[in-house]
Amino acid sequence: MSVALVTGASRGIGRVIAENLAAAGYDVAICYSGNEEAALETIELCKKYGVQSIAIKADVSNADDVAEMFAQVKTSLGTVDVLVNNAGITKDGLLIRMSEEDFDKVIDINLKGTYLCTKAAVKDMMRAKKGRIINITSIVGVQGNAGQANYAASKAGIIGFTKSVAREYGSKGITVNAVAPGFIQTAMTDGLPDAVKENYLKQIPLGRFGTPEDIANTVAFLASEKASYITGQVIEVTGGM
Ligand SMILES: NC(=O)c1ccc[n+]([C@@H]2O[C@H](COP(=O)([O-])OP(=O)(O)OC[C@H]3O[C@@H](n4cnc5c(N)ncnc54)[C@H](O)[C@@H]3O)[C@@H](O)[C@H]2O)c1
Repeated sequence: MSVALVTGASRGIGRVIAENLAAAGYDVAICYSGNEEAALETIELCKKYGVQSIAIKADVSNADDVAEMFAQVKTSLGTVDVLVNNAGITKDGLLIRMSEEDFDKVIDINLKGTYLCTKAAVKDMMRAKKGRIINITSIVGVQGNAGQANYAASKAGIIGFTKSVAREYGSKGITVNAVAPGFIQTAMTDGLPDAVKENYLKQIPLGRFGTPEDIANTVAFLASEKASYITGQVIEVTGGM
């Protein structure tokens, strides 16, 4: 049985990614930052597929938490074959009003968290001579977005990171790709004003917002054997936005 670790999987896109990987037969470790109840719900959803699933509380921006998390996954399920760096936050605001704290927080969780978890996963993947790393970036990291300079910088950073790590570890049988969602209906976007949502909708040729399933399906494909010749890529899942 292969093992997948999905960060930020207590809800939203991460939860559905975890469920899809369980449906594909992976034992799934889910990392959550605060809401234990929601994390336990995710592992119950995964267990319905007859796989093992555990939840681990960890802040992906904290090196000690990440080291402890990987040690726990190894003890309980085995070494990680598929890592999905999904944990992410926004702290939006125009640049002139963006505090240094809000800039650092977003970079720390989104970008440094991806670095810490990838570094921790790669060592065992090199030994196994196989592995899949899938980083959730954003269309905002490709195009930029007013009011999201910190978030866009973190997501653009993930793209550069993905392409570099793909070049470093391709010869070890490890693929590293990014998925760039557009506007996906989750708690992250629910709070936006209706006028903002309507404006986004006008920019989507397929005429609907994305669902967590749209992203999870792409992640499951990248994790599968069918994607074994794809690395260093950014797959945009945006409805054409
Ligand atoms: N919703 C969208 O439209 C959209 C678009 C593009 C990209 N994304 C990206 O997709 C990913 C998932 O977003 P979502 O919409 O499901 O949001 P969400 O807020 O529902 O989920 C984010 C998850 O990350 C977790 N998290 C936050 N900080 C953490 C930390 N320090 N350590 C561990 N976990 C932490 C949260 O607890 C939560 O479970 C994020 O990386 C986000 O940037 C979302």
